[in-house]
Amino acid sequence: MQSRKKELIKKLKLEPHPEGGYFAEVYRSDGVINNETGDFPDGRNFSTSIYYLLGSDDISKLHRIKSDELWHHYEGSSITIHIIHPGGKYEKQRLGKDLEDEQFPQQTVPAGTWFGVTVDDPDSYVLCGCTVAPGFDFQDFEMADKQTMLDAYPQHQKIINSLIP
Ligand code: GUN
Repeated sequence: MQSRKKELIKKLKLEPHPEGGYFAEVYRSDGVINNETGDFPDGRNFSTSIYYLLGSDDISKLHRIKSDELWHHYEGSSITIHIIHPGGKYEKQRLGKDLEDEQFPQQTVPAGTWFGVTVDDPDSYVLCGCTVAPGFDFQDFEMADKQTMLDAYPQHQKIINSLIP
């Protein structure tokens, strides 16, 4: 599994992502949406897409972005996407191909929710795709602060501690 992970990182030219894991952008639309009165006052590409790889020994740490994010499963282990909604509801989504095990090949993480990801199988990895519209910009990306999250959502202490090591 480690050799396949290394091969994918090399072949797809993946780089470390600040949230954990590895990524490469594969699509950024030429078109730009202007949204002067909304969340994107200086405009954003219509849509962007990345390859994203996460190993069993990595986690995608708790973060949020301003667009809905569509996750697509390509190969490897299933993963669990842990979501904390602004109102405090915790939701778990499984991304994978085993439909008999409550996994789905595509999942949607709603804009503005806090989320992090863990790989389900030990000694494994996942390769997936993440598509956002309006397109991704690091200005719209925020890593969660542990103490702020614990103060806001004390009922989720365990999951917060595991997703912000
Ligand atoms: N481009 C750089 N980072 C990201 C990310 O976390 N998600 C998406 N969809 N695109 C990105």
